[in-house]
Amino acid sequence: MKSRKMQQSDLAEVVNIEQLANQFPWSRKNFEGCLKSKHQAWVFVDESKDIQGYAIVQKVVDEAHLLNICVKPSAQKQGLGRKILNHIIDYSNSISSVLIVLEVRSSNKRAQQLYISAGFNEMSVRKNYYPAKQGREDAVLMGLDLDLMFFFSDE
Ligand SMILES: CC(C)(COP(=O)(O)OP(=O)(O)OC[C@H]1O[C@@H](n2cnc3c(N)ncnc32)[C@H](O)[C@@H]1OP(=O)(O)O)[C@@H](O)C(=O)NCCC(=O)NCCS
Repeated sequence: MKSRKMQQSDLAEVVNIEQLANQFPWSRKNFEGCLKSKHQAWVFVDESKDIQGYAIVQKVVDEAHLLNICVKPSAQKQGLGRKILNHIIDYSNSISSVLIVLEVRSSNKRAQQLYISAGFNEMSVRKNYYPAKQGREDAVLMGLDLDLMFFFSDE
């Protein structure tokens, strides 16, 4: 699996995966906005150059905000999500971020499990943050302290 910068020409494929993988997918406009704002956006492609996953990170002062991470449903549960997250952690370290933060639906236990296994902690809960099938759903705010990670990995 190789990573490269997401381009405008990737958006049809990216939006298609986004719709397959999420109950409340981002729109094409959301992705266009991220590219326009020059957020870091990568796609992860297989040998046939087909997109299998993608991620978008916004740098906010000394923090990295993980805005979107997604793996094509047919490629899930094979270690790609973890690879993408490691790529994001490496990138965040390379720009000297001290913290990676993200919001995840309280019902999205798969993603939470991935973040926890990578060392993320729950920081707080934003009540009724997301629209849900019935009413609204909480967002769990999670963070990975990169300074602390560096400190422990140095021992
Ligand atoms: C969350 C997501 C990115 C994980 O990608 P993936 O390629 O399936 O993940 P991996 O195969 O690398 O698995 C990494 C870890 O995630 C967790 N995980 C993944 N799939 C899981 C499942 N079906 N049930 C429980 N845990 C799961 C496990 O902790 C797993 O580690 P393990 O294999 O050692 O048990 C993927 O499910 C996805 O794209 N979901 C839709 C979009 C989404 O929810 N994005 C996150 C928004 S905050």
